[in-house]
Amino acid sequence: MSTPCAQHHTGASASIHNQEYFNKEASNYDTKHEKTLNRLLEEIRGRLDFIGADWVEADDEDDDDQAVKKDERPQKSVRLLDYACGTGLVSRALAPYTTQCVGIDLSENMVATYNTRAENQGLAASEMHAYQGNLCVPDDPNPAAFASPEFFNFDVAAVGLGFHHFDDPSLAARRLAERLNTGGVLMIVDFMPHGTPDASHPAAHTITHHGFSKDHIRRIFEEAGVGRDFALEEMAVVFHIEKENGAVVRRNLFIARGTKA
Ligand SMILES: C[S@@+](CC[C@H](N)C(=O)[O-])C[C@H]1O[C@@H](n2cnc3c(N)ncnc32)[C@H](O)[C@@H]1O
Repeated sequence: MSTPCAQHHTGASASIHNQEYFNKEASNYDTKHEKTLNRLLEEIRGRLDFIGADWVEADDEDDDDQAVKKDERPQKSVRLLDYACGTGLVSRALAPYTTQCVGIDLSENMVATYNTRAENQGLAASEMHAYQGNLCVPDDPNPAAFASPEFFNFDVAAVGLGFHHFDDPSLAARRLAERLNTGGVLMIVDFMPHGTPDASHPAAHTITHHGFSKDHIRRIFEEAGVGRDFALEEMAVVFHIEKENGAVVRRNLFIARGTKA
């Protein structure tokens, strides 16, 4: 995982490397990162007010007597686009407060794991489902596979730990902003600026940015038209990446949000 703001991977596109790498990682991604992903899930859930969407009220499982179950309440719709969704961390964190989670990821194996987990939780495809694809191809602004209305008008678009893998995070932010309702929120979780990773690390080719400064992220949000009420916080959780020689690299994480004006 990982990159300073202006440093870029030297290949033509990181997408090929990402697809290949994460297809191999998919079957053990959740186990390998279990502890950190669980903590990250809690950190995201603990910031519902910070993210600031008009969330659905989650069912209170302890309050059997008077709880009006989510299905029985007059439903508003709160739709999440979980981009670079991987196995579904962001969707799982926010699912109780949304009515639909739609994932998109480059890696078909990550998508398959996302969908298996959703099905195992008893969720219908209309509630949580992911699709393989790439919204960040420069000369394909509206890919045919994602041109139908179900892939637009989201209330929240989120990228968890994906920005540092993208060739052009600014393009990604613009493409996601286009798919938000006015008043919708873009949320990014990624690494604070850090040193250059060891080139021998298997993920080194998938990484395009060595973390992001607050100013860089603010600029990306503003240029994408989602800079209203921009805010960024450092999270308490630290991502641990184990290198092949057993050494552990620590990455500090931020969460940023902004509203589409
Ligand atoms: C570190 S994983 C994060 C997965 C998940 N969001 C999480 O927080 O656990 C990065 C994900 O980004 C995906 N990815 C990389 N480049 C992408 C792109 N251009 N479009 C869509 N997904 C991409 C990879 O396939 C991988 O699943």
